[in-house]
Amino acid sequence: MKIDFAALVRPKQGVLVLTAAEGRKLGQFAQALDKTLGGAIGRALAGAPRFTGAKGQWLEIVGPGGGLGRILLAGLGKPADLKAEAFETVAGDAVRRANATGDATLAVAIDLPAGAKAAPAEAAARAALGLRLGGYRFDKYRTKLKDTEKPSLKSALVLTEAVAAAKRAYQPLAALADGVTLTRNLVSEPANVIYPESLAAECRKLAKLGVKVEVLGEKAMKKLGMGALLGVGQGSVRESQLVVMQWLGGKKGQAPVSFVGKGVCFDTGGISIKPAAGMEGMKWDMGGAGAVIGAMAALAGRKAKANVIGVVALVENMPDGNAQRPGDIVTSMSGQTIEVINTDAEGRLILCDAMWYTQERFKPQIMVDLATLTGAIIMSLGHEHAGLFANNDELAERLAAAGKGEDEKLWRLPLSEAYNKALNSPIADMQNIAGPGAGAGSITAAQFLQRFVKDGTAWAHLDIAGTAWSNADKPTVPKGATAFGVRLLNRLVQDHYEG
Ligand code: BES
Ligand code: MN
Ligand code: ZN
Repeated sequence: MKIDFAALVRPKQGVLVLTAAEGRKLGQFAQALDKTLGGAIGRALAGAPRFTGAKGQWLEIVGPGGGLGRILLAGLGKPADLKAEAFETVAGDAVRRANATGDATLAVAIDLPAGAKAAPAEAAARAALGLRLGGYRFDKYRTKLKDTEKPSLKSALVLTEAVAAAKRAYQPLAALADGVTLTRNLVSEPANVIYPESLAAECRKLAKLGVKVEVLGEKAMKKLGMGALLGVGQGSVRESQLVVMQWLGGKKGQAPVSFVGKGVCFDTGGISIKPAAGMEGMKWDMGGAGAVIGAMAALAGRKAKANVIGVVALVENMPDGNAQRPGDIVTSMSGQTIEVINTDAEGRLILCDAMWYTQERFKPQIMVDLATLTGAIIMSLGHEHAGLFANNDELAERLAAAGKGEDEKLWRLPLSEAYNKALNSPIADMQNIAGPGAGAGSITAAQFLQRFVKDGTAWAHLDIAGTAWSNADKPTVPKGATAFGVRLLNRLVQDHYEG
């Protein structure tokens, strides 16, 4: 679907999206249009008493005249509360409505109600972002879709009185949409297509955006002493990979921001094998790595003025004659030894080496890891918030605020010595899961990671097991891979680490 901006005039055909504020208040454009259409909008409103203009409401006006196929009127809520971001939701919702109906073209009018503080150009840019995110589909393996099941939209226009400014405002958002789309594609792919080496090859493609990409194979990781990471991958015929991505758009020599992602391309649980039901979902156990890759694409795509390192640990966790056994003791790159009680607690084993490597090599000012780490976080927070753990209040607050702003919400959970103790092992420096009865599985997992955070590194861990995949359609986040984390990381950098 082609997306463009055009002047705010009545389109000659197709679907037109208009907006009304609470109290059914139309903007100037809609009011003028209603006159040229002989009062079609007013009549429709008169016949729909429950349409008040509240946020999330829609009114469909069929055959309004003037060549238009339909008008979709969206409620915006109170003008005083209206933010430009509201147009993301309106456009994201509209694009799927139009695709379902079979429209070939769609136009979204940016027609702000009186009293709205949002800038028209920003609202228009946000509408374009909403079209991209809401129109996302992963159909590449559906070879028998009927024409009537395929998305019908060929093009979409955002109509605004500020075309040039809207185009400028959209540039960084287009890069963000590219990053989100990349992540959604990677996370949606099955594990026979996206495995450590093929995912590393996808990372290599970021070089065209100016990202420096290095790939370490098993030999290089062995040399570095990454026994924890390598142990997880040893039962797989696929070679484990560690990918280092550098976007150096900031001041030369300035300590970088770093993101570390869990990239378990498939998690069977290993010898501590998972039950069959739902195991297919473990293809998205690389959602943390996917988010880091998409964030790097977004940051490079919009030429962020920051130094950012993205490190992703890519493995496949398989049962096999050569697989790691429960009870095995591995030595991590940090030198600390780990008794592997449960081979299904593999995410922390790969992250601990990736995090240590990141700190040793880059001395980052902050390190944020993202991981589909624990089923327990779904028990705690469901699919609304991802878990946030941090050793630094400022970083935690910045992340929480970025998440709120991008609708990728976080909720902070505690870390403390009592939880940490539960990981002590009688035979090694620690075990990879807490002893029986400890509870708090997401917290003890975070405590494990914290044992690999160096003094002085501001660190946060985001447990995205409940948010990386969605079974519910939302306007800008259709069912499936959400790309949770891409927007949040992009915003974090934009608000605090640029310039
Ligand atoms: N990848 C899983 C966590 C997960 C579960 C992600 C459900 C998404 C949905 C992780 O590797 C895992 O298996 N964790 C175990 C840890 C346990 C063995 C301590 C879990 O949560 O059950
Ligand atoms: Mn697991
Ligand atoms: Zn896992």
